[in-house]
Amino acid sequence: MSGKYPDGTDCAENPPRAMSVDEIHDITKEWAAAAKRAVEVAGFDGVEIHGANGYLLEQFLHDNINQRTDDYGGSLENRSRFLFEVVSAVAEAIGSQRTGLRLSPFNYFQDTKDSDPSGHWFTICEKLASLPAAERPLYVHMQVVEPRFDEVLDEKQKMASLEEYTSESGTKQNSLTPFRRALELGGIKFLACGNFNREDAVAKLKSKDADLIVFGRNFVANPDLVERFRNGWALNPYDRSTFYGADPLDKGYNDYPVYDPKQ
Ligand SMILES: Cc1cc2nc3c(=O)[nH]c(=O)nc-3n(C[C@H](O)[C@H](O)[C@H](O)COP(=O)(O)O)c2cc1C
Repeated sequence: MSGKYPDGTDCAENPPRAMSVDEIHDITKEWAAAAKRAVEVAGFDGVEIHGANGYLLEQFLHDNINQRTDDYGGSLENRSRFLFEVVSAVAEAIGSQRTGLRLSPFNYFQDTKDSDPSGHWFTICEKLASLPAAERPLYVHMQVVEPRFDEVLDEKQKMASLEEYTSESGTKQNSLTPFRRALELGGIKFLACGNFNREDAVAKLKSKDADLIVFGRNFVANPDLVERFRNGWALNPYDRSTFYGADPLDKGYNDYPVYDPKQ
């Protein structure tokens, strides 16, 4: 893996290692146990399985970094085996209607970069949609593909990378809509996130390209975001410099003010 870990050391010096099959099975059980505790002990409404953004499950999905030669590597069926096992285990533990899944076909964070994200993730979505109801997640959550996750790459780098995803005809293949349509056939809801504001969130919902819009940075900066949207009030701007730690530590964490009509 290229880049540096948060402690400043080179990733190349301490590269990720392949998990054993026993570890994969143990982690799957731990995932289900954690989901059960989240719902039964902590009182969560549901759990979103993170199958995106270069984290564990995604490291199996992308064919440029999955180098395994066992049942968890090679074909798409094998690369997605861990994902489907976790989805089934979590759905069994807490119920499929409390189970969500995050995916990011066009992600290239943490060096993931599949050779055919449109085709491969479409097949994954079709398979999710055809799971038995007891295993079929309530929703899939994806980030829109436009250069919006600017925490990771600047706009130029991201556009350059997206340009590489072109079909044989030269048409860009980076739309999320086909995934949404495939999931819809199984009644799986579609959540979209990525730099939305009040206006384009409404447009996205009206166009039926998503069932729900997820907000990140604006929620960090606006504890009353829903009320502000509802009333058309201005938003607090977010302070990027405090996103990943600040001095004092709670600065930018829970000190943004609620809307004050007198201001
Ligand atoms: C401070 C901060 C930390 C984040 N950390 C993660 C993370 O650990 N894993 C992840 O998958 N996404 C992470 N994200 C991305 C968010 O999940 C979300 O995709 C992103 O903020 C896009 O939504 P937004 O444009 O409304 O902020 C983070 C975003 C922010 C602002």
